[in-house]
Amino acid sequence: VVCLTMAVPVLAEGLEGKVIGFSQIGSESGWRAAETTLTQNEAKARGIDLKFADAQQKQENQIKAVRGFIAQGVDGILIAPVVSTGWDDVLAEAKEANIPVVLLDRQIEAPDDLYLTAVTSDQVHEGRVAGDWLVKDVGDKPCKVVELQGTTGSSPAINRKKGFEEAIAGHGNLSIARSQTGDFTRTKGKEVMESFIKAENGGKDICAVYAHNDDMAVGAIQAIKEAGLKPGSDIRVVSIDGVPDIFLAMAAGEANATVELTPNMAGPAYDALAAYLKDGTQPAKWIQTESKLFTQADDPKAVYETKKGLGY
Ligand code: AHR
Repeated sequence: VVCLTMAVPVLAEGLEGKVIGFSQIGSESGWRAAETTLTQNEAKARGIDLKFADAQQKQENQIKAVRGFIAQGVDGILIAPVVSTGWDDVLAEAKEANIPVVLLDRQIEAPDDLYLTAVTSDQVHEGRVAGDWLVKDVGDKPCKVVELQGTTGSSPAINRKKGFEEAIAGHGNLSIARSQTGDFTRTKGKEVMESFIKAENGGKDICAVYAHNDDMAVGAIQAIKEAGLKPGSDIRVVSIDGVPDIFLAMAAGEANATVELTPNMAGPAYDALAAYLKDGTQPAKWIQTESKLFTQADDPKAVYETKKGLGY
């Protein structure tokens, strides 16, 4: 007797048939593109009707999209907030309409009763982890650091800067010589790094670049190479996200360390929404994701292989 079993897709429970609006920032980085893909895939797996709005990096577009979701009477809203301020009014409107809002990957400055929960990493900690790695790697040698900041006014730019500064404080041999926004993009990361190199003796005076995300680091690596220097050795490269390309750069010796940020913020967000919509369960106000340091010692080629197919 031959017994055939048919694979029946299993839907994760709780949100089947629900309509969820997702206001995404844009697609400035590989990490964000992966977050979008995973949020959409996870919605499909759970039978959610996901309404997606790309804000093209503008808060006004996000606010407009959220108002649109409220007008449609969606069951829940996800927002990846481009900047940390200016959300109170629209969140109060969602609350008034009894629509739970979950923040994804960035924090905001607003009373926390205006949203259900925030799924994010501890971004100050990420900055500290990057800074601690550099302090250890540099030892007693003098080290001029240049910093590529994320989008001005965004919580990761504010907090990753703060954490890094805390880590190097008290180590007089390390100082941040230059710091400017590269807007979380490769193109801008490269452009700003080129200007840093020009201003710092053709790059010879720079000991390390700290980038608030891997995409800017990848742009900086290109600029360093074009200046005739070796990224990863002449100039150390430390950044945040853990996208596949940075692991390739680490495998080639061109980047030194990254702090991994999961792009799967939607999984915990959907779980929180499902529980809340079922029986009013209130999740913790902050669902914290892990921040893990990877260096060249962690077999970056193997890590790169495991990252493929994870939404990137
Ligand atoms: O908010 C998370 C940050 O936003 C990621 O580090 C970065 O790549 C991005 O686009």
